[in-house]
Amino acid sequence: MTSTFLQRHKMIERNVTLLAILAFGAVTIGGLVEIAPLFWIDNTIEKVQGMRPYTPLEQAGRDIYIREGCYLCHSQMIRPFRDEVERYGHYSLAAESMYDHPFQWGSKRTGPDLARVGGKYSDEWHVQHLKDPRSVVPESIMPTYQFLAERDLDAGDMAAETNVLAEVGVPYTREDIAKANADLAAQADPDADTTDLKKRYPKAQARDFDGNPKRLTEMDALIAYLQVLGTMVDTNAPAAQEHLAREKGR
Ligand code: HEC
Repeated sequence: MTSTFLQRHKMIERNVTLLAILAFGAVTIGGLVEIAPLFWIDNTIEKVQGMRPYTPLEQAGRDIYIREGCYLCHSQMIRPFRDEVERYGHYSLAAESMYDHPFQWGSKRTGPDLARVGGKYSDEWHVQHLKDPRSVVPESIMPTYQFLAERDLDAGDMAAETNVLAEVGVPYTREDIAKANADLAAQADPDADTTDLKKRYPKAQARDFDGNPKRLTEMDALIAYLQVLGTMVDTNAPAAQEHLAREKGR
């Protein structure tokens, strides 16, 4: 029996047209099995309460985070393993990075995961740590970013940036886009009226972040971003708990 099987296989291997046709058939079936289901499920990301687009200042901070390559040492995705959850907090939900373009999950952790670093430390701690990491964590190998506090924030046209993000699906409204440049300046200005900003961006934190209220620096933007990470979705809320219970049951 084995010999007839081999015999037949020899036939396929020796006939290049037959081999091509059969290989094409195998790849087509495999492809369909993998791709077709995606057209029948409505959504691969379950919606959760609390997700909102980044404010222009947070978004500008995120651009600095990417520019400086923070992602080379820091991931932003807590995996659903007990050790990670105990160390970093609730594991990351897909919805929490749905407005991230590009996402910052990362593949390397020279430093800790930052997916839920928001609210973990004070702004002062971040300023001190970014200026001189070893002054707060003596064994740290993180580079110093003193210059961020000295550079004025030059974020470019945030209306254009939020508009592009809106085009790829981030739900910025027309009003958000029109006010983006004003919002950028207002969020870190203690004298500005931010009631409207907070209405459009629920739970947005508006204050001077870098300890220098007179200037809007790159440090302001980066810390505004760090302080919002992982804080939008209330993982203790009943809806989130229900979502988690369902995920665990899978
Ligand atoms: C060469 C790798 C490296 C780079 C690049 C780097 N970090 Fe770090 N980072 C670390 C290490 C290691 C630690 C842990 C020790 C410490 O707290 O300084 C850390 C800690 C941190 C923490 C504290 C996290 C916690 O939960 O305690 C924050 C916040 C942070 N980094 C932000 C940044 C930001 C923002 C950037 C980019 C501007 C950056 N890091 C770039 C290595 C790096």
